[in-house]
Amino acid sequence: MKVLVLGSGAREHAIAWKFSKSNILSGLYVAPGNAGTEDIAENLPDVDPCDSASVISACRKYKIDFVFVGPEAPLAAGVVDDLEAAGIYAFGPCKQAAQLEASKLYSKAFMKKYKIPTASSEEFDNVEDFEKAIRKSEGKVVIKKNGLAAGKGVLESDDKNELLEFGRNILKDDTLLVEEFLTGWETSIFAISDGKDYVLLPPCADFKKAYDKDQGPNTGGMGSICPVPTVSKSLLAQIEKEVVIPTFEGIKKEGYKYIGLLYFGLMITPKGPKLLEYNARFGDPETQALLPLIDSDFGSLFSA
Ligand code: AMP
Ligand code: GLY
Repeated sequence: MKVLVLGSGAREHAIAWKFSKSNILSGLYVAPGNAGTEDIAENLPDVDPCDSASVISACRKYKIDFVFVGPEAPLAAGVVDDLEAAGIYAFGPCKQAAQLEASKLYSKAFMKKYKIPTASSEEFDNVEDFEKAIRKSEGKVVIKKNGLAAGKGVLESDDKNELLEFGRNILKDDTLLVEEFLTGWETSIFAISDGKDYVLLPPCADFKKAYDKDQGPNTGGMGSICPVPTVSKSLLAQIEKEVVIPTFEGIKKEGYKYIGLLYFGLMITPKGPKLLEYNARFGDPETQALLPLIDSDFGSLFSA
């Protein structure tokens, strides 16, 4: 099997590294790749992962059997739908299912519809109503940009001027959510799904604040651990029952198939686990801590 990994981050280096250990691979490519992937695979620096035509033509040229999509942007751009139409196997959800990550409004509506525990929230598409809501709010609240923002679309604050400025900027070309601020600790749970069943991987945690002692603005994640000692078997079972199972049932009811990695970003609050977000791909940097703990051959796993 010849595999192409799409992406250029440390996460894609970890994914390619894991594929490089497989006994059933006859070729490994990364597009565009990075200095790390160059040591273990053939980089295709001219292939744009978000341009389906460019990815499909590389698959034909190198006789690639399987494409593993690392980051969210190609998923949201519909690259998997186009690969499927071209008869090339891919790991990653179709464009519609990738909305669970690509639109915070869509994912929040999905969580509410399928009674998945999450923070209460209100949607805004105009500055006037948004400003009124912030002026009325008490204590800390969270603002979330609807569209993809590479970890920079969320602000938690009790400073009204800061909240107003952040929200007004988003509303220039997008919509937003104002959300209840939750307290607790965070964990990331990953499920691999073939469209019928799923398996859960060991729980991860990433640490999002930019500065030491968990201070400063949010980032996509400054570091990570796996497994997470505070995620007990019973907590994991509770997360599966209250969050994971209703999500996969909801996906079925919505009428689409989810083939890919579904990431559940959770806050463990005094009232139990609450879902902060879905991601439609492996986490970065969680993957770098997680993959060395997986014994299975990635070639066999994804060929299945
Ligand atoms: P998200 O992209 O929704 O996962 O948000 C990024 C980060 O912002 C999360 O990992 C949390 O650290 C923080 N965050 C998001 N939503 C909330 C919330 N409702 N309450 C407290 N912190 C939050
Ligand atoms: N580490 C958070 C993310 O990958 O979204």
